[in-house]
Amino acid sequence: MGEEVRIMRLVLLGAPGAGKGTQAKMLVEKYGIPQISTGDILRQAVKDGTPLGLEAKKHMEAGGLVPNDVIIGMMRERLKQEDCAPGFILDGFPRTKDQAEALEGLTMLNAVVNIDVPLDILLARLTGRRSCPSCGAVFHVLNNPSKIEGVCDACDGELVHRKDDNEKTVKSRLDTYTSQTQPLIDFYGEKGIVVNVQGDGKIKKVFANIVEGLGR
Ligand code: AP5
Ligand code: MG
Repeated sequence: MGEEVRIMRLVLLGAPGAGKGTQAKMLVEKYGIPQISTGDILRQAVKDGTPLGLEAKKHMEAGGLVPNDVIIGMMRERLKQEDCAPGFILDGFPRTKDQAEALEGLTMLNAVVNIDVPLDILLARLTGRRSCPSCGAVFHVLNNPSKIEGVCDACDGELVHRKDDNEKTVKSRLDTYTSQTQPLIDFYGEKGIVVNVQGDGKIKKVFANIVEGLGR
């Protein structure tokens, strides 16, 4: 008899700065499935100056959302790739009800992890964040500093302060989250697949709670 292969198809939900990227990197290590971050894909497209990047840039800098049809088309192609066969961790998708409904036509989900962090601490997390554009690792100048200032621990890349991590854009991103993405907690709650995790503890503690929640 063949060994049972457990497919893990996960979504990480959470406000900007909730820790989706931080936790996704740790889940990749633990479960050996890829992180698919729509934000990372879009930032790469902006950097490369592709048509997708040109379209996305204005929405990202304003703290709004890239149009649903663009994102859904992009994810339809991404989820077909071979590395998704054992599962995936979706970081930043879906973000609207239209995206969630489209995702239902593309694949089945095992769990939606909702990382819950009080809105008032998110601004400090984002304005102090440093990100690695090469590998997507994230740090924080106070909460989670890199070993060498400005240098990524994981790949030695140069850390940057994301363009949308300024106070004005963060406020718009938080409003966008509240109006468009937060309703997905109920959307998935009704399907009985939400794992709620308190996201304002220590990074390792949050991770332990996610793993524990997924095991249930
Ligand atoms: P995206 O890149 O997804 O940004 P976001 O959702 O705003 O989330 P962030 O990446 O800012 O936060 P995070 O939850 O990953 O937190 P992190 O782990 O880095 O999207 C960017 C833009 O792209 C959107 O605004 C939109 O325009 C567009 N876009 C993307 N997807 C789209 C979609 N599906 N549809 C339409 N448009 C889309 O942590 C944050 C900081 O906190 C770090 O410094 C970290 O070190 C620190 N930290 C993490 N955990 C803890 C902890 N437990 N304690 C203390 N500090 C912590
Ligand atoms: Mg992120």
